[in-house]
Amino acid sequence: MPNDYEDVTTLQQQAQTRREIEQAITQLFAPEDEALRSALASAKEAGLPLIQISPIQGKLLQLLAAACNARKILEIGSLAGYSGIWLARALPAGGRLITLEINPKHAEVVRDSFKRAGVADRSEVRVGKALDLLPQLEGEAPFDLVFIDADKTPYPQYLDWALRLTRPGSIIVADNCVRGKRLWKAADQDEVEASVYEYNRRAASDPRLVSLALAIDNDATDGFTISVVRQD
Ligand code: SAH
Ligand code: DHB
Ligand code: MG
Repeated sequence: MPNDYEDVTTLQQQAQTRREIEQAITQLFAPEDEALRSALASAKEAGLPLIQISPIQGKLLQLLAAACNARKILEIGSLAGYSGIWLARALPAGGRLITLEINPKHAEVVRDSFKRAGVADRSEVRVGKALDLLPQLEGEAPFDLVFIDADKTPYPQYLDWALRLTRPGSIIVADNCVRGKRLWKAADQDEVEASVYEYNRRAASDPRLVSLALAIDNDATDGFTISVVRQD
């Protein structure tokens, strides 16, 4: 029987191994270039929170964009443009990314970051509350990929909008769907946990969707819920 000390070292070793694997995957499959690093540096400089997706999540978004042949992508929640750069780079010539951001200061940082990354021509930041901007997008639908990563309590409403604004075969991804009590119902859930749980429950059970939550952020304590809009 391992004693407590051995249990602790084993857990530490496992965490270390997971970090090494993650670093190796990042280096090989999802290295950051100067433009991505510079988007993070501007975010830091402007005092924005550093709550962007990880490089592996960025690469997964690109993989999903390729899988659904994405030409039009919608993002809800831009922050400093880090995920937006990953998404815009997945677009073919003539493709379009629209990203929605409530904070005009964030939107300015995003526009600069998109310019430096060379994706300003195919990307547009719209400033406002997502629930006010989404109805105006109906004329520009369908989007091939929707990435939801803004405030968490409207996540169920964002799912309704994503379903309205997509086509069969489109992919809907939502960030921060795994952490805390976001995957099961509990009496002591806070408002965010209850809302994201509702998002997950609907993504899992809506007959129009094939969905899966994946624990894939840095220490596998948070992650994406990924849904494909069924073709049949
Ligand atoms: N997708 C980004 C991180 C987004 S953080 C990345 O990975 O790089 C969440 C962003 O959503 C913040 O910039 C915040 O200002 C914005 N946001 C919060 N509430 C919003 C709302 N109601 N409508 C639009 N944007 C919102
Ligand atoms: C928070 C929001 C995010 O979108 C995220 O990826 C991490 C943290 C937050 O509000 O704390
Ligand atoms: Mg997030």
